[in-house]
Amino acid sequence: MNNFIYDLSTKIYFGKGQIENLPTEIKKHGTKVLFLYGKNSIKKIGLYDEAIKLLNKNNIEFVELAGVDPNPRLSTVKEGSRLCRENNLDFILAIGGGSTIDCAKAIAVDVFYEGDTWNDLYKFGKVDTIKKVLPVGSILTLAATGSEMNRNTVISNEETEEKYGLGCDLLKPKFSILDPTYTFSVPKNQTAAGCADILSHLFEQYFNPIKKGFVSARIGEAIMKTVIEYARIALKEPDNYEARANLMWAGTVALNGTASAGKPGDWSVHGMEHELSAKYDITHGVGLAILTPRWMEYVMNDENVYRLADYARNVWGSREEDDKAAAKEGIAKTKDFFLSLGIPMTLKEVGINEDRLAEMAKKATEFYKIGAMKNMDWQDVYNIYKMSL
Ligand code: NZQ
Ligand code: ZN
Repeated sequence: MNNFIYDLSTKIYFGKGQIENLPTEIKKHGTKVLFLYGKNSIKKIGLYDEAIKLLNKNNIEFVELAGVDPNPRLSTVKEGSRLCRENNLDFILAIGGGSTIDCAKAIAVDVFYEGDTWNDLYKFGKVDTIKKVLPVGSILTLAATGSEMNRNTVISNEETEEKYGLGCDLLKPKFSILDPTYTFSVPKNQTAAGCADILSHLFEQYFNPIKKGFVSARIGEAIMKTVIEYARIALKEPDNYEARANLMWAGTVALNGTASAGKPGDWSVHGMEHELSAKYDITHGVGLAILTPRWMEYVMNDENVYRLADYARNVWGSREEDDKAAAKEGIAKTKDFFLSLGIPMTLKEVGINEDRLAEMAKKATEFYKIGAMKNMDWQDVYNIYKMSL
């Protein structure tokens, strides 16, 4: 087992009605709030009114910024940090999915950062140069990214067609309110994409040929089984509380350090997907679902097949004794599962053809080769994109 630091500093309020804790929590960290959200979903479900009412009742001043896009844009980050500076805001409340929370974290950095936030931090990862950020809190409305309890923010630069993530402990939300009833309204395609994203986070931490971190691998499998069990139920019965609650907590725990403690992961599928959503603005979870089974098939070799076989047996119940046969069964089940959720499973279906595959493959491996199951150069990534067409 590798050394690790496990720091779950985000306070979670989970369950119905937990929004009542919002004013007290905000007051612990700030006095004047940037109230950040996406397009319209929080208004449709009444959450916008509920939150505004609580802020007004508790005399908490705020400035609103609406319109955060899925695959949040650098221009919105700049708009948010300008508002914070001009109005002396000292806290950011993000209400929405991962995009809104990621955008809030990016604003939190940009407000104080004296260098070039995009180039220094997102592109070249000079995280040590971040000295001060605004505190962030969130109300989550979509089970997917884990941003509500982690140190990551992923931003797209619309001018350069690039998408990069940044991870910094200072960016962990101070608190997050997770009320599963807010996710009843998430449409089928976003529910499915969110489940694919949660599974992908678990895969990225699970798949590595090095035999380390037994406990983390088993925890990962348990969360995978939870998603597989409840994704189908949530799609059939969008207001099934137990299904939405299990998916919501699965999404949070899947990427808060619990499933990676002490073991190395892979993370190449995310690297490949970020190129797709940077250039074609597709839904992150859909891109991951399309690439995942092809990636599994492509990287399988004698050294790593045991891990794919473990996955097939422990998650899908494969009874194949031969590792390769079990692994193949697990890969087929993975693809069938995504298809059963109604996810389009080819790049062509989401509007991506051959034109920019080589360009994206080179960009995905611009700084180094990616992946641990197989350490891949641009040609490998290109091959996987081709298999996914
Ligand atoms: O804009 P609104 O109106 O809120 O609509 C959103 C959006 O259209 C809608 N939605 C959210 N909650 C809803 C709802 N619709 C109805 N009812 C609700 N309760 O869903 C759409 C997608 O929202 P978004 O926030 O984009 O989805 P998600 O949570 O999947 O976030 C995706 C972003 O997170 C990044 C992705 O790359 C992508 O940019 N990631 C962030 C990570 C992290 N911070 O750790 C890790 C991930 O791997 C990922 O890269
Ligand atoms: Zn993801």
